[in-house]
This record gives sequence, structure tokens and C-alpha cells, in this order.
Amino acid sequence: MANVAVIGAQWGDEGKGKVVDWLASRADVVVRFQGGHNAGHTLVVGNQTYKLSLLPSGLVREKLGIIGNGVVVDPWALLAEIARVQAQGLSVTPGTLRLAENAPLILPLHGALDRAREAARGDAKIGTTGRGIGPAYEDKVARRAIRACDLAEPATLSAKLDELLLHHNTLLRGLGAETFEKAALLEQLLALAPQILPFVEPVWERLDELRRAGKRILFEGAQAVMLDVDHGTYPFVTSSNTVAATAASGAGVGPGVVGFVLGIAKAYCTRVGAGPFPTELNDEVGQTLGDRGSEFGTVTGRRRRCGWFDAALVRQAVKVGGIDGLALTKLDVLDGFAALRLGTGYRIDGKIFRHLPAAPGAQAAAAPIYETLEGWSGSTRGARSWAELPAQAIKYVRRIEELVEAPVTLLSTSPERDDTIMVRDPFQD
Ligand code: GDP
Ligand code: IMO
Ligand code: MG
Repeated sequence: MANVAVIGAQWGDEGKGKVVDWLASRADVVVRFQGGHNAGHTLVVGNQTYKLSLLPSGLVREKLGIIGNGVVVDPWALLAEIARVQAQGLSVTPGTLRLAENAPLILPLHGALDRAREAARGDAKIGTTGRGIGPAYEDKVARRAIRACDLAEPATLSAKLDELLLHHNTLLRGLGAETFEKAALLEQLLALAPQILPFVEPVWERLDELRRAGKRILFEGAQAVMLDVDHGTYPFVTSSNTVAATAASGAGVGPGVVGFVLGIAKAYCTRVGAGPFPTELNDEVGQTLGDRGSEFGTVTGRRRRCGWFDAALVRQAVKVGGIDGLALTKLDVLDGFAALRLGTGYRIDGKIFRHLPAAPGAQAAAAPIYETLEGWSGSTRGARSWAELPAQAIKYVRRIEELVEAPVTLLSTSPERDDTIMVRDPFQD
């Protein structure tokens, strides 16, 4: 019985939350393995809309949720999110949510440093979510992070805060930002501990037991391959690896446990934040895509940049992300366009590329090469079977499969949970 990992195949906001929620009906447990509350996953179930950042999307189906060690966890954000979804009628208890004991914590100083650095970058800013993700991962790699397990050891907390504050206050002072006091931070963390610790455990052990009992594990990625710290459009990326290989190290399981890798891609393309976007449309078409697709960031509220589907980029994401099949979302947003374009490569300084090279200068200069397809006049909105799709829409999907060199496994035709067409069940592969 295969497990499934869901990852973004573009620059995020592809509809991973909707797809994870849909697939969660077939899973026993949903595991987050990287990122933090920079993620914003919107799930629409009947007349309820859930916006999740840290909580695994399977919680809406009352499936066990696990936050793995690869996630950077802001404990205040976690408690606030739990309170928010509980107010919407969901139950989140230590029986339904587990947090890895070795997950690094995001503290208020991480957000402060993130924002101070962005301000200092001026026009060269990355457009981060300002939530401290980058600084928290830096502390993890620098071996000074405070982790969930440390909340149970006041002496460890105190010693680690000394080291952490020496580093961060030096930087914050240099950037002209406010510094942090140890006593206040320690007090806040000790006050928080009794609320967080009941969720904390060695999740690797639970995952091992579940796996041996034949339970189905769904790994829920955040962000996307083009925001991956190694494979994305560096430096305009997030600070974690978003590719499927991370599901293993970010949860504490072997690579063979990950199973089928489902890459999520919009039928067009969007990006929040700065950085290269070769197929971006700064015209009426881009505006129309944004309006029809309601392209506003869940976390930032910022309008997302919009453009044509970049098949060269998604093909690259398929290869480096280890994607076995694609879930193509928001096909309905393309209803009514007379013509549609697909990016098939780039022209850079007179040379033709089938992939996006890593050098920032080349990425900024990449001019897309397009092929044009006829649009369709009928509606795909809400379609739940292949037979309901206009012939031209099917052609569009088939052409994407050829160009990205991966089959379309799922199609999504509206925000609503059940407006989904399954071509193949990824859990059965
Ligand atoms: P995620 O970060 O990948 O989980 O994606 P977000 O939730 O941030 O953004 C995707 C948005 O598109 C959400 O508002 C979803 O409700 C919506 N959405 C998902 N699938 C579809 C679809 O097939 N059609 C339309 N119109 N909207 C969709
Ligand atoms: P989901 O899971 C879209 C972007 C930010 C910024 C860059 C770095 O909802 O798809 P960070 O705060 O991570 O250091 O910001 O990454 N970004 C996202 N864009 N969707 C996301 O998550 C994102 N998470 C981070 O806008 O450009
Ligand atoms: Mg999102």
C-alpha cells in the first residue's frame, strides 16, 4: 500500500490544501514536513472555509495530524490557529495532533530579524512573509535553535536563550531594530510550555508504528519546488527544501516510505513575492487571471502575480521534485479564453534553453518561448468527470502532460472539496 507526498510544482498556492483535504479521506494520518506558518492553505467544505498555516490539512477530516521535525514552529501561532479552527467547530487535541520533539521553534526575535533585514534590502527585498522562517532555519543549522523538547527543561532554555540573544541582539542592533530581553522571553516560553508540551513526542516512533500497521500516510508539503532553497529561483526562495525527498528527513522516516509523489500545479501560474517569473503577464490577461482566480495571498493578503502555464518550469519541478503525477488545479479559471499559451522554454541572450538556468542574471533575462492553443467556450467549473470537460480543455491538459513529462492524476475544477476529477488513485499506485 503506497503512501503519498503532495508538493507544490510552481511558486506555491497551487491548491495543495484542497488536494490534501480531498486525499485525506483515503489516508490515516497527514504529516507536515517542512516550512512553517508562511504557508496558507485554504479548504472549502460546503459553506465553511478553513485557512490553515501550520495545522496539517487532514484535521478537517478528523485525521491524525503530525507536525514533523522539518517544520519550524511558532508556538504562539500554533495555539492561535488551534483556537481559530476550534471556533469553527474542529477538534484539535493531543489525541489528534502530535508535534515532533525535535522541531525548532520560531520566536518573536526571528520575525523581527526577518522584517528588519527585508527593510534593509530595500528594492532588493525577497518579499518574505515576515514570519521569521529564514532566521529560524538559520538557527537550526547553526545549532543554536530552541526546540519543542527544550520547553520541558528550564535550565536548557535559559542557557540557549543566552546564546541566541547574543547573536540576535547583535544583529538587531546593527540593523537599528529593537532588541529582546532574556527574562521576558524566558517567562513567555515557560508560560507557554504547559500548553505545547502535551502535543510533543518523538513522532518518528509513532510513524514507524503506523507504517508497520499498514496505515496510509499522506505527507503535506508547503511552498513549492521553485521556492526550494536549492532548486528554486535562489535567492528568491524560502529557507527549506520543498522537494519530496524532504518528506523523509522532515518527518523521520526512510526515503522508501514516501511513496507516490503528487505535484500540484495551477493550470496557469502565480507567484507572491519578488523574483523571476518568465511567463508573467503585466497586462489585461494577467489581470483577468488574477480576478477570476481570486489571486490574493492567504497569509500576506498581497495580490499574486499571474502568468501563463510555464511547462518548462513545471517539467524541471517534475524532475528535481521526483513528481510521479500532477494534480492540475484551477482549470475553471481558464474558461472563456479565446486562446491559451504554454511556455515551452526560454530564449536567453539569443540561446534557447529548455530549462531555467540557475544564474540570477540568466533567470531575469529569460524570455519565454510559447506555443498557442485554442481555448474553449464551455464551462469546466465544478466538473466531476472527464466527460463533462469541453474537448479543447482535454487537449490543453493532454498537451501539458506531454510537455512536463508527467501524467495528470487529478484535476480540480473549483475550490469546493468534491469538484475534483480523479484519473488515478495515487494511493493505489
Ligand atoms: P496552497 O497554498 O497550495 O494550499 O493554495 P492556497 O490555498 O494558498 O491557494 C489556492 C486557492 O485556490 C485557494 O483559495 C483555493 O480555495 C482555491 N482553489 C483550489 N483549487 C481550485 C480550483 O480548482 N478552482 C478554483 N477556482 N479555485 C481553486
Ligand atoms: P503555500 O504553502 C506562496 C514566498 C514568499 C517569499 C518567499 C520567501 O501557501 O504555497 P519566507 O517567508 O518563506 O521566507 O518567504 O517565499 N512564500 C510563499 N509563496 N505560497 C507559500 O506557501 C509561500 N511561503 C513562502 O512570498 O517570496
Ligand atoms: Mg497558500
